[in-house]
Amino acid sequence: MTKNLLQNRKWWKEGIIYQIYPRSFKDSTGNGVGDLRGVIEKLDYIKSLGVTMVWLNPIYESPNDDNGYDISDYRAIMKEFGTMADFDELLNGLHKRNIKFVMDVVVNHSSDEHKWFKESRSSRDNKYRDYYHWWPAEKGKPNYRWSFFDEKSEAWKYDEQTDAYYLHYFSQKQPDLNWENPKVRQEVYDIMKFWAEKGVDGFRLDAFQFVSKDTSFPPFPEGYDIDVPSVIKYHGMGPNIHEYLKEMNQEVLSKYDVFAVSEGVGSSLQDAHDLVDEDREELQMAYHFETSDLVSSVDKCTLTELKECLTKWAISFEDKGWISIHLANHDLSRMVNRFGNEKPEFKDYSAKLLNTLILSLKGTPYVYYGDELGMTNNGFKKLEEYRDIAVINGYKSVQSKGGDVESFLKKMNLLSRDNGRTPMQWDASDNSGFSREKPWLPVNKNYKTVNVAYQEEDANSVLHHFRNMVALRKQNLVLIYGRYTLLQKNHKTVYAYTRVLEEEKMLVLLNFSEVKSTFKFSNSLENSELLINNYHKVTILKDSVELQPYQAIIFKL
Ligand code: GLC
Repeated sequence: MTKNLLQNRKWWKEGIIYQIYPRSFKDSTGNGVGDLRGVIEKLDYIKSLGVTMVWLNPIYESPNDDNGYDISDYRAIMKEFGTMADFDELLNGLHKRNIKFVMDVVVNHSSDEHKWFKESRSSRDNKYRDYYHWWPAEKGKPNYRWSFFDEKSEAWKYDEQTDAYYLHYFSQKQPDLNWENPKVRQEVYDIMKFWAEKGVDGFRLDAFQFVSKDTSFPPFPEGYDIDVPSVIKYHGMGPNIHEYLKEMNQEVLSKYDVFAVSEGVGSSLQDAHDLVDEDREELQMAYHFETSDLVSSVDKCTLTELKECLTKWAISFEDKGWISIHLANHDLSRMVNRFGNEKPEFKDYSAKLLNTLILSLKGTPYVYYGDELGMTNNGFKKLEEYRDIAVINGYKSVQSKGGDVESFLKKMNLLSRDNGRTPMQWDASDNSGFSREKPWLPVNKNYKTVNVAYQEEDANSVLHHFRNMVALRKQNLVLIYGRYTLLQKNHKTVYAYTRVLEEEKMLVLLNFSEVKSTFKFSNSLENSELLINNYHKVTILKDSVELQPYQAIIFKL
């Protein structure tokens, strides 16, 4: 049994990913927008965190309708971000520090300003016509399809030029590529090879569950678009997705020492396994949203729900397949606001607790920039304060349906993506040391104390705790491969689990509460070694541990 757990050791399982939203990390030019040279300036900081991989959100040429997720040239760097020479220097700088690089690959759709789409929309017999999904108007209006960012949530857009509709699951400027066309797939593999030849080590496949489509576009039953999970159920995991992934694996992934992770994994554990189990020879890592989706309204989730969700995935992927672990990313608000506690007296403790959680679960941890400091939501209130198309068009969509725009704004105040995209907080100088000029999105008001320089000086900071936790994970294979077992699942305030690998056994105790909690234990902990603690002390009684609010500890048993 145990032997099994170590059978499939891989560098990408043992790594820790640091996700950088390049627009918000460090501006080297003074235009208020982060860039590649900014990341280069901070390479030693990234190294100092102990992380072993960096994933950058898209850096390709783009009109920026959706901040780089609308690509107009897959082989060029966005001018705002720098040049290809900057990219090469960045990649080299990472590799010199033994840090791998993960490239975001956005190929469910391109920008409408990509040459393929310009050609495609120009005439019905253009050779790029079937690079996208077109529905001739003489066939009548196509069956409804959902769009994430459309003002009316409609994915078909009528285009006068050729009297036809094109499909866009995201914004109107993000037309969906037609994966059923083998030429499109070949183009994608060529793009991936181009970057693999440059030396990138991993690919994050954006919105990948949507690529394969039933191109007859049949009607869906009533009620399929009530919420995001049902949208995914009907639009995701199309008929040929596995065939395409096997092809991608053969053409690209198997030829390099790289891994690929799919954003989204369909609607079930089985869907996720079908994407990543080793014997299927498709992808290497699943990135599911069930945990982050637990907080999709202003009512936060309960600890029981969190435990159940993380446990379900941990157990299902114990022996086969591999998952990602994340509580935040560029599409989510800050983890402290959603899963921790932003009150001043608990903010840092809960940030440390959440970092302890991510770095002690089974799966590859993804740490979102700023979470190593405990950065929090900006708390945007008015529509004008947002930059994100998802909020701006989401507001219009609610308005057009006569919905409650006030409650929409309230929800965005907690959940909007812009909350997680504010500039990195480097120091207490103007604009938090992110830029000499006004940043594209305001810096969080708490930057005078929540910043790298301040936390470097404070031995108790979230930053130092983060580094210690990273080191602990890297030194202990049990935290990477060990079997996970949930303890006392009905405990109202404490999340407790063990990780076991051969003779090694770790106990993780996390008090998700504003009050002290007691955790009873059948064996004495007296001879156990305390490995990490986000308080100075821990009260160990004969058969129990008393935990302070948001206390997080790991014992070696
Ligand atoms: C993914 C990205 C998100 C983007 C969308 C469309 O969900 O993470 O940021 O807006 O795809 O590309």
